[in-house]
Amino acid sequence: MLGDMSREFEGKTAVVTGASRGIGAATAVALARRGASRLLLHYNSYRQGAERTLAAVRAAGSEGELLPADLSTREGIHALAEALRERDADILVNNAGSLVRRAGLLEFTEELFDTVMDLNFRSAWFVAQAVVPGMLRKGSGVIVNVSSIAARNGGGPGATVYAAAKAALSAMTKGLARELAPKGIRVNAVSPGTVDNDFHRRFSTREVLEQVVHMTPAGRLSTNEDVADVIVFLCSDAARYIHGQTIEVNGGLLAP
Ligand SMILES: NC(=O)c1ccc[n+]([C@@H]2O[C@H](COP(=O)([O-])OP(=O)(O)OC[C@H]3O[C@@H](n4cnc5c(N)ncnc54)[C@H](OP(=O)(O)O)[C@@H]3O)[C@@H](O)[C@H]2O)c1
Repeated sequence: MLGDMSREFEGKTAVVTGASRGIGAATAVALARRGASRLLLHYNSYRQGAERTLAAVRAAGSEGELLPADLSTREGIHALAEALRERDADILVNNAGSLVRRAGLLEFTEELFDTVMDLNFRSAWFVAQAVVPGMLRKGSGVIVNVSSIAARNGGGPGATVYAAAKAALSAMTKGLARELAPKGIRVNAVSPGTVDNDFHRRFSTREVLEQVVHMTPAGRLSTNEDVADVIVFLCSDAARYIHGQTIEVNGGLLAP
């Protein structure tokens, strides 16, 4: 029988990377409203946004802490991993990510390649490596990675390496799920379509977004909450038998 699910994360500590805006901020607040006791909120450049998320988390009755790090650098990844090793999380949402810059093959420098891969793929792996020992000690835990529809369709113009990094993240989700399921840890991913937030305000034009709306059976772009709600579901006990899946959240915009 299902219990009261309204505060089902009570007593849990959740890490959300990229919690200063967008999907990450919505996820952190949703977890706090469902009772998570402590939110570890990572951000990079947008301190004000992270503080706003922290205030919303506290208003929901949870404790919160801000952890800054640039996850497109090895130093930043190590710094966040180090901070998380001491903090004993039950839930990890690997959400931080970005296209960084649109560039085709001929203009794509090695530096940009490393930046895109480190931020969207490497960071998720090494943050998980820092958090999982605590989960192993408890014999339970949940990891949700935020992939992208780009992982399935190769990405829009100048987003090929971003798409490849997200495809790697989806593959990692399956492999880690196999490794960790026997230890009581579930690993899954969500794959958003096009979310109407700062990400596309920076990387896409209004005209392109209108074309996406036109092609989307649901007839609108995604909100941050459309994705956050699925992340929260994957963190919850209702998803207890779901392992290694990447759930597409794209309004029916089916990719090959
Ligand atoms: N928006 C979409 O349509 C869409 C579609 C598919 C997948 N996604 C994925 O969804 C996830 C969340 O994105 P969003 O849509 O919420 O975008 P967003 O509103 O631009 O938020 C991105 C978050 O990632 C953080 N971030 C960016 N660069 C970083 C860096 N170098 N180091 C550490 N953190 C960094 C940002 O931190 P600061 O703000 O503090 O710098 C911010 O918290 C990303 O992984 C993205 O790839 C988004």
